[in-house]
Amino acid sequence: MDKNSLIERLHNKSAIVGIIGLGYVGLPLALRFSKVGYKVIGIDIDEEKVNCLNQGKSYLEHIAEERVKTAVEYHLQASCDFSNASECDALILCVPTPLTKCREPDLSYILKTIESILPHIRPGHVISLESTTYPGTTEEVLKVRLESTGYKVGKDIFLVYSPEREDPGNPEYVTATIPKVCGGSTPQCLEAGIALYDNVINKVVPVSSTQTAEMTKLLENIHRSVNIGLVNEMKIIADKMGIDIHEVIHAASTKPFGFVPYYPGPGIGGHCIPIDPFYLTWKAREYGIHTRFIELAGEVNSAMPAWVVGKVMEALNARKKALNGSRILVLGLAYKKNIADVRESPAVEILELLHEKGADVSYSDPHVLKFPMMREHDFDLESVPVTPENLSACDCVILATAHHGFDFDLIREHSPLLVDTRGVYLDEEPHIVKA
Ligand SMILES: NC(=O)c1ccc[n+]([C@@H]2O[C@H](COP(=O)([O-])OP(=O)(O)OC[C@H]3O[C@@H](n4cnc5c(N)ncnc54)[C@H](O)[C@@H]3O)[C@@H](O)[C@H]2O)c1
Repeated sequence: MDKNSLIERLHNKSAIVGIIGLGYVGLPLALRFSKVGYKVIGIDIDEEKVNCLNQGKSYLEHIAEERVKTAVEYHLQASCDFSNASECDALILCVPTPLTKCREPDLSYILKTIESILPHIRPGHVISLESTTYPGTTEEVLKVRLESTGYKVGKDIFLVYSPEREDPGNPEYVTATIPKVCGGSTPQCLEAGIALYDNVINKVVPVSSTQTAEMTKLLENIHRSVNIGLVNEMKIIADKMGIDIHEVIHAASTKPFGFVPYYPGPGIGGHCIPIDPFYLTWKAREYGIHTRFIELAGEVNSAMPAWVVGKVMEALNARKKALNGSRILVLGLAYKKNIADVRESPAVEILELLHEKGADVSYSDPHVLKFPMMREHDFDLESVPVTPENLSACDCVILATAHHGFDFDLIREHSPLLVDTRGVYLDEEPHIVKA
């Protein structure tokens, strides 16, 4: 199939779209393509997810079962079989891009995916990488391997990088309403990429190269990491000076121009902000550049859980108590409010530090009922209900994630000592410590 026939099929929605990696990014994208009328084949190595989807069930808390059910009834099917790729016109890669133990880019998921699709690549395929990665990945890693088939990128097959900007649990923006940046390996590739996303995303933002698109995503995430790092540092200074940083941010936010509020917290979490900036750090070394802002923000942000634990120790000490042996309840395990994602969550780090120091820990999270399997943490714990009895039985309660499901008045009323890491309690009260 040539480029014009591919674009025609994408425009008239007769194209089949393959989404590889059906996690936080891939699943909502698959549902969106399916909703506008494309036949979608979702491919994942996780059999449980594939079975779940084919039964019309959702495995992500913020994605309603009804949406999956409707998609499966009409246009969506899931599979672990990569030979389905040959049936598709478009292949969109949404697989993880974590860091290795030495904090270097781990492209193994992307490499395995390419290996699996390579035997099924055919002329007329458009391939889009959405996973966050360093500038150069699409050209240096994907293009080279795709062209090893003998097909030429830009002539036989079409390659783009289009970063995902999903914000799980954000009610204001959904896949369709978040503009999508897209960069092509060649102008022909970009044309195919725009055609791929045109019917499903309200606004596609073309850029001049795949490297520009890759760098755009990193700028967005680094911008957040650095600004959160700055405000976390400001929090520590304000704390020493006896100033409430949240009151300062509220006041500064009244400036109608030139100020964007960022909020301090117990640290950063999720699959993006703590990880992605270091993809650029690694690549920048090739050019002899040391990424000082990124490293510094990482340093400040990753020190936050220990800083919070320090505040807990000070507050207990002021009450003639030691952390060792104290009963501590952590409210919120997820890395941000109203979702169930605990990846890289600072609340988990806090739980770990408290446990190491001999505290008797428990947690409550309406979105995470059982402590999940995690690579680096292992707790045999279940979420405890937030009741007056459970709160008052603790020596200290830490508000780590301000889920809307929490009754903040009840928590204030019944916690003997309350450490607030989210700025929920703005008034001064003797039993509330702002951290
Ligand atoms: N989670 C977010 O909010 C978010 C936002 C923007 C960008 N991203 C980026 O998107 C990418 C995916 O993130 P995610 O949060 O969706 O990850 P995820 O872990 O939720 O999902 C990844 C999926 O890929 C599957 N997978 C792994 N290896 C595979 C393989 N070889 N073949 C097929 N499937 C495979 C996994 O089983 C899993 O279902 C990452 O690069 C991430 O940085 C994530």
